Amino acid sequence: MKIISVVGARPNFMKIAPFCHAISAYNILNPERKVSHILVHTGQHYDYRMSQSFFDLLNIPAPDINLEIGSGSHAEQVGQTMIAFEKVLEKELPDWVVVLGDVNATLACSVAAKKLHIKVCHIEAGLRSFDDRMPEEINRLVTDRLSDLLLVPDVLSEKNLLAEGVANHKIGFVGNIMVDTLEANRQKASELNVYNVVSENKRPECESVFTQDGLRSGYTFLTMHRPSNVDEKAILTGIIDWLLQRAGSPVPILWTLHPRTEKFLKQYDLWKKVCAAKNLVLMQPLSYHELLAINMHAKVAVTDSGGLQEECSILGTPFVTLRENTERPVTLREHGGCGVLAGNDPSRIEAAYADALDAGRSPVRPPKWDGKTAERCLAAILNFGQ
Ligand code: UD1
Repeated sequence: MKIISVVGARPNFMKIAPFCHAISAYNILNPERKVSHILVHTGQHYDYRMSQSFFDLLNIPAPDINLEIGSGSHAEQVGQTMIAFEKVLEKELPDWVVVLGDVNATLACSVAAKKLHIKVCHIEAGLRSFDDRMPEEINRLVTDRLSDLLLVPDVLSEKNLLAEGVANHKIGFVGNIMVDTLEANRQKASELNVYNVVSENKRPECESVFTQDGLRSGYTFLTMHRPSNVDEKAILTGIIDWLLQRAGSPVPILWTLHPRTEKFLKQYDLWKKVCAAKNLVLMQPLSYHELLAINMHAKVAVTDSGGLQEECSILGTPFVTLRENTERPVTLREHGGCGVLAGNDPSRIEAAYADALDAGRSPVRPPKWDGKTAERCLAAILNFGQ
């Protein structure tokens, strides 16, 4: 059997690692029925810290093919990826194309494959925010509509697919593949010292001061990159004003900056203000282990990332999501998780944050988030149709 797997952007990399390792383990045990695996990187993310660092630290084999698509509008990224990926498919003629998550690579490559009558497997299928203003929701809807095999991380996602009329036999409940990577790297991350991580990654422009003891007594960490939070001046300014007021009372806020966010902070003249804040520590994008270490010891996480909500759940970090909805409701308090949605209105963020500061850690592990999802994904592909 020949499988092409596709990655493009940062959240894909931690998901592909265990899948590559599962194929290698299978091939060792089954030398007469080896799976031929080709890894394609679309090149949507390309900075060392957004891409290669994950390959190095998570032992992901180097991509066999890099389409080098780079940045651009949605249509540019998707269109160029489809054109380049179609050529790969025509040459390689795989039995399956495996796509992950909800980035532009996921959409582009599932459409290109399906038009050539190649079977598509979507890992992390069924997630729905029911908000089609999110580019990722469009990617999820199209990919799931086209996929032959839809591998879901939780029962809520399975319900979404069944409600949309997806046939039962196309759905596999495999668990959350990101948890495989988290469990495999938890020990390594726990050996890192948070003070060193912050010192090594602090942006030189940032004037904030922090100490080993200060960080030991608590901190919050922040990640933010969604267009709905960072692209519009009034919204970004409101969040920044809240941050400047809150940082330091009672704990400092560590902020790992996404390139998109940095671009807009500079464009809207907010950059100097955030650099000058005393208790807001700006950091470059962190490595997988560094962010895990920061998360493990944080009092609260403030984020608009879906993947981080899941990591917080497993680690038990109370979190506040800067969004009105989430495609991962299983991580929220109403489903037994440790997070709340707060949107991007400063007064709502403040109320949720004040509450989260008092919440304390409480790890949650939904069914099949057990570190063995990649094996189940591969088994579902190998056994498809039997
Ligand atoms: C993409 C995904 C989003 C995911 C996020 C994680 C889509 C539609 N969005 O959003 O779901 O949560 O990745 O990071 O696929 N840039 C760099 N270096 C890089 C990559 C990007 O500087 O290596 C800058 C460029 O200015 C680029 C901007 O970041 O225009 C946005 O990158 P893009 O890949 O278009 O979207 P993300 O916001 O990263």
